Amino acid sequence: MNKTDIEKILTVDNLSKSFGGVKAVNNLSFSVDKGHIHAVIGPNGAGKSTLFNLITGVIPADQGKVDFLNHNITSLRPDKISEKGISRTFQNIRLFPDMTVFKTVLIGTYLLTGGKLLPALFLSSNFCKKERLAREMVEEILQFVGLWGVRDEYAAKLSYGNQRRVEIARALAMSPRLLLLDEPTAGMNSKETSELMELFSSVNRQGITILIIAHDMHLVNTLSDQITVINFGKKLVEGPPAEIQRHPEVLEAYMGRAEVNA
Ligand SMILES: Nc1ncnc2c1ncn2[C@@H]1O[C@H](COP(=O)(O)OP(=O)(O)OP(=O)(O)O)[C@@H](O)[C@H]1O
Ligand SMILES: [Mg+2]
Repeated sequence: MNKTDIEKILTVDNLSKSFGGVKAVNNLSFSVDKGHIHAVIGPNGAGKSTLFNLITGVIPADQGKVDFLNHNITSLRPDKISEKGISRTFQNIRLFPDMTVFKTVLIGTYLLTGGKLLPALFLSSNFCKKERLAREMVEEILQFVGLWGVRDEYAAKLSYGNQRRVEIARALAMSPRLLLLDEPTAGMNSKETSELMELFSSVNRQGITILIIAHDMHLVNTLSDQITVINFGKKLVEGPPAEIQRHPEVLEAYMGRAEVNA
């Protein structure tokens, strides 16, 4: 993908969401260029995860619009939105306790197999073919993210870093055009973080656009093409890393945060 193409994959227009008196997302507008790694940063409680929940249809917006590949997806159900090509990981890891890595990621391919995993006896030959394709795809993804060796282990028993990889693999199994990552390296050591950074670059090189929430400014500055800074649900400023790093409002919003100097 030529990163100079400025085709928009996602456009958020005047989006708002309040919880009681709290304006978690407040008239927020921004867009993501196709092929980019675009970071969303901001202090705790700024509204970043709420923004992801609105984009993916987990919660309804009070007002505003989200366009994905020029289709209005604002009031669609989460499964319809993932069918259209947006998948995500969550800030808190969400894995089933008694499921192997392979099965967890296989579930991500439900879109491919029509949402069913039936006993082999009842399967049509067409379904068998889809199931075989799905399994091949899972193998490819697990090799890609470096989890093939632990495919038969319970996902929830893996190291923290590998659990994050499982979540990313499951999101990739939905064949996204846009991948949303909510603080994917939170709580990781620097080795795990740099391994994941390499993984995100490889995912992006495959043509998948990434929208990532992170507090780690080294990660943000190294990976992002574009950064949107939000505070109190509003857009503070946006631009490429070199610009954002020098922006006085950003430094102020982050005043006292150790990560800004990381
Ligand atoms: N389901 C909810 N019900 C009530 N209030 C909520 C809900 N979700 C978020 N909020 C509030 O909305 C605001 C934004 O929260 P959000 O989780 O989006 O912030 P964030 O930028 O992701 O923060 P963090 O960096 O800590 O993850 C906060 O004041 C939060 O308490
Ligand atoms: Mg959050």
